[in-house]
Amino acid sequence: MIKHEQIETNAGLLIALTMIVISIGGLVEIVPLFFIEDTIEKVEGVRPYTPLELRGRDIYQREGCYLCHSQMIRPFRDEMLRYGHYSLAAESQYDHPFQWGSKRTGPDLGRVGGKYSNEWHVAHLLGPRDVVPGSIMPNYPWLLENDLPYSDIQDRLRALRTAGVPYSANQEEYEANVERFGEEVAGQLDILNAEENLVGQALNGNYDGNRGRITEMDAIVAYLQVLGTMVDFGQYDQGYFVEFR
Ligand code: HEC
Repeated sequence: MIKHEQIETNAGLLIALTMIVISIGGLVEIVPLFFIEDTIEKVEGVRPYTPLELRGRDIYQREGCYLCHSQMIRPFRDEMLRYGHYSLAAESQYDHPFQWGSKRTGPDLGRVGGKYSNEWHVAHLLGPRDVVPGSIMPNYPWLLENDLPYSDIQDRLRALRTAGVPYSANQEEYEANVERFGEEVAGQLDILNAEENLVGQALNGNYDGNRGRITEMDAIVAYLQVLGTMVDFGQYDQGYFVEFR
């Protein structure tokens, strides 16, 4: 029987044994992946972002919101009680790059969509302390001052299409999207109509409370309001998702 002391005083042996232990851990993590068909849950409703939501997401990244906010609810009881169903892989499959984040100075935003009204988001982004006393989140007043630049929206969608996001660039792809997402969503994913769709959603949605202008606030609120709302969890029983873990 080798004593602990003998291992610790023999660098070569210590390295060899450490490697063996780490490899076992690695195998336990990696091998199961070869035996499950898919790690992305098969769920309905997840779609790529509309042009306006996508611009909102760009602004979310530009402002560094991910430095304080995660978008990944972990499968722990406390997180699910606070935020709702844990995040699925399927829900970020069209996110490039994903916004899971690694720091929670503020709450997780994975399911913030629909939790507050548009007016609340506008007031909160302009001055977080006006609605949440004691908040340490910064003010973002320029979101309401800046017009949203969107003349390059087609290029943005094209870039994501190259990365595999199913925005349609021709009739054939559009029809495939109709089959996959339904006509209404497919229309929103059509690159040639991107500008028209963006303007339409901003005016109809009136996210910033001013129909006269399309501001960066319109885009970021549209984005926040869709987060975590695409999957209808009422349709599935809890056991279903466990198969994919
Ligand atoms: C310095 C860290 C920090 C940054 C950067 C930050 N936040 Fe926050 N955020 C917080 C904190 C702390 C809270 C909790 C207090 C509050 O509601 O204001 C919060 C709350 C929120 C909430 C409400 C969440 C809930 O469930 O109640 C939203 C929405 C939000 N932030 C969006 C954003 C967006 C969008 C950005 C980028 C434009 C951003 N935050 C940037 C710290 C931050």
